[in-house]
Amino acid sequence: MGLLNGKVAVITGTAGGQGRLASLAFAREGAKVVGCDLRRLDNEETVREVRAAGGEMWGLAPVDLTDPNQVKAFVREAADRHGGIDIVYNNAGGPRFAPVADMSVEDWRRTISVELDTAFYVTKYAWPYLVARHGGVIINVASMAALIGAPRPPMAAHVAAKAGLAGLTRQLAVEGGPLGIRAVTISPGPIVTREGDLDDVTREMISQRTLLKRWGRPEEVVEVALFLASDRASYITGANIPIEGGATAW
Ligand SMILES: NC(=O)c1ccc[n+]([C@@H]2O[C@H](COP(=O)([O-])OP(=O)(O)OC[C@H]3O[C@@H](n4cnc5c(N)ncnc54)[C@H](O)[C@@H]3O)[C@@H](O)[C@H]2O)c1
Repeated sequence: MGLLNGKVAVITGTAGGQGRLASLAFAREGAKVVGCDLRRLDNEETVREVRAAGGEMWGLAPVDLTDPNQVKAFVREAADRHGGIDIVYNNAGGPRFAPVADMSVEDWRRTISVELDTAFYVTKYAWPYLVARHGGVIINVASMAALIGAPRPPMAAHVAAKAGLAGLTRQLAVEGGPLGIRAVTISPGPIVTREGDLDDVTREMISQRTLLKRWGRPEEVVEVALFLASDRASYITGANIPIEGGATAW
């Protein structure tokens, strides 16, 4: 018996990275996974891998989650396929980095849109399905950037978006509590899925910021998300769980 047997889990950003690993882990535990991403071919690869491992997944791509109409259609299709939704895992993200004075207004808006608006849209349209089930779980993937600033790379919009996401989670927990809906933020530190974006010096600097002196693996994030999505975490809501090798502990 899996931890998520029979649960319908909507996961965003499933074309790679943590979203792919989450799809595999949630399906392994018996969830019916519904994924989406901008990237079609990579998303299809995730669906293939989940099914090859004996799991259940349906994926839709391209879906641009910054477009509320596309989100609405995707969420409705997900719910129609499986007769409802139990878990919403807002994982998609994509920051643009620059020092404040050099950050273009467009990059600021794009980061806020991809990293904050998208989670609101998915949650908003999924909410009535969770209510209809008399309960459910929303997991929002923020970042240690929701807890501290960072000198390198400079990330004003990312910090603002992820801190906003943690705030949104708390409000969802307040509104969801009486309805049996839990909402939890997870805040990963440096995870190897994005390590390639940075130069060697920055990578090492970030590594040294953690107490474990290394970048994390995506499975180290999704196994926590899996627990939080399960009934074993039935008394956890509104919290922000850091998964960052201790980087924010000092
Ligand atoms: N990797 C890290 O170091 C790190 C650290 C802290 C937080 N996070 C967060 O973890 C989450 C997963 O990131 P990841 O490490 O797997 O990186 P990733 O870039 O591999 O995954 C993000 C996914 O979101 C998708 N996406 C982006 N914009 C989209 C849109 N408009 N519509 C649909 N899909 C879209 C991308 O195509 C991609 O597949 C993100 O929210 C990220 O901010 C990552």
